[in-house]
Amino acid sequence: MADITETAEWSALAEHHTALAGRHLRELFAEDPGRAGRMTADAGDLHLDYSKHRVTGETLRLLTALAERAGLRDRITAMFSGERINVSEDRAVLHTALRLPREAELRVDGQDVVADVHAVLDRMADFAGRVRSGEWTGFTGKPIRTVVNIGIGGSDLGPAMAYEALRDYADAGITCRFVSNIDPADVTGVLAGLDPEQTLVIVSSKTFGTLETLANARAARAWLVDRLGDEKAVSRHFVAVSTNAERVAAFGIDTGNMFGFWDWVGGRYSMDGAIGLSLMIAIGADRFREMLAGFHTLDEHFRTAPFEANLPVLMGMLGVWYTDFFGAQTHAVLPYSQRLSRFPAYLQQLTMESNGKSVRADGAPVVAQTGEIFWGEPGTNGQHAFYQLLHQGTRLVPADFIGFAEPFEDVVTGDGPGMHDLLTANLLAQTSALAFGKTAEEIAAEGTPAGIVPHKVMPGNRPTSTILVPRLTPSTLGQLIALYEHIVFVQGTVWGIDSFDQWGVELGKVMAQDLVPALTSAEPPADAPDPSTAALVRRYREWRGR
Ligand code: F6P
Repeated sequence: MADITETAEWSALAEHHTALAGRHLRELFAEDPGRAGRMTADAGDLHLDYSKHRVTGETLRLLTALAERAGLRDRITAMFSGERINVSEDRAVLHTALRLPREAELRVDGQDVVADVHAVLDRMADFAGRVRSGEWTGFTGKPIRTVVNIGIGGSDLGPAMAYEALRDYADAGITCRFVSNIDPADVTGVLAGLDPEQTLVIVSSKTFGTLETLANARAARAWLVDRLGDEKAVSRHFVAVSTNAERVAAFGIDTGNMFGFWDWVGGRYSMDGAIGLSLMIAIGADRFREMLAGFHTLDEHFRTAPFEANLPVLMGMLGVWYTDFFGAQTHAVLPYSQRLSRFPAYLQQLTMESNGKSVRADGAPVVAQTGEIFWGEPGTNGQHAFYQLLHQGTRLVPADFIGFAEPFEDVVTGDGPGMHDLLTANLLAQTSALAFGKTAEEIAAEGTPAGIVPHKVMPGNRPTSTILVPRLTPSTLGQLIALYEHIVFVQGTVWGIDSFDQWGVELGKVMAQDLVPALTSAEPPADAPDPSTAALVRRYREWRGR
């Protein structure tokens, strides 16, 4: 694999960075009055304003040239057609097939992938419909009122995030709860107060071998059997989502009530398939399909739009620009929507488990910084917490601001303004302040005492994307998720890494299993992996009276 940093395109960007790094957004806007109108792009219902980035038209030309040089075009074709681009696991990467319309065609290794996907979707829709209508009842004949999804990582964050995002569309009187952590406080907290007769548990695990999920599932089963007094109740209250039928059966769940997916769907890319069952039960199959259509809209945009008007390419390459040329360490995502409160956490897995790698797909060390550190909170809460650092700190933190024109439901008191307009005004104020700041002269002119002026200077020149969306709907949520999935892909391609494996999480899992006897055995353990851990084991045992 060629070293991307040795290419003429990379060198041109490095040189361009030297020339541009000292320029302020105030100057760039002053020199180019058409900038705000020009530096926007649309995909589906998403409107992106990227004019508040530290770029010129030349930067964008150079960034898209780098994407070309990295082979992005061929990589897009390879992914969408089912080539085995997850090389370290020798798998195709076909989450985009999860949202192909029924009439589409895609065969991989002779298998009709579209037919397989829709067969599962149809089974999910049938089951979700029966739960929603009350036709599917619990062991004692009562309808289901609460769905508890037990899973972790991609088997939790996607449905949990999307349920929260779309809870206004949950119209069947069924609420969802999510259990993920192996901390017993999670499962006991979620089950507390639930009526087992009206609770459906979905055990979601691609592998069905994940410690946390199996422990939580066992705890939930014990709770149910204890309360309903009959093992036979399990088949009416437990269903599974997995790729591993054998393990599902071994756990005691009827595989007739199992919803499958395939090894070509990575866990963090799976919420639009069977892993989204809890969401489908909450919002119904039609709305779930609207969400899939939204995903597909962005897939088609990514696959076909020219790079200079392609949202995932633009945003992905801007991430490369800040990571590799400005040395930015982190990337904030700031949804101005309470409903998207879990979106940053969802994106953390999507981006960091995908691109947090130090070797390339060919096994050689990476040659540039990889993996943006994603973090964030909904606005306006963040404004009263960490935005101080964004505005006046010493670090460069590029940020995505996401806002919606229409609220699901506004609140207007007296003569208004409505709360949603206040929310949007805050979003716009923040991006403007971050970009343009406020100079010492402007502050002094307001009569500020000289000693205070430096404290109040707002340096500005802090880059942001603004993504404006008409309304948060199943479709626009799908579009937003697909946007970030493809951003990850663009960046992984430039960095030359396999964005679809996650070997780095394995060692800790094995070591945790190995440490259990050291914590629990009657005799003090003979060894521990290292002296520091041995001392902590001793202290833990002492405090637990062992
Ligand atoms: O430990 C990481 C991971 O493998 C994620 O990639 C995955 O989403 C999560 O664990 C859960 O895995 P599973 O769905 O197999 O339980």
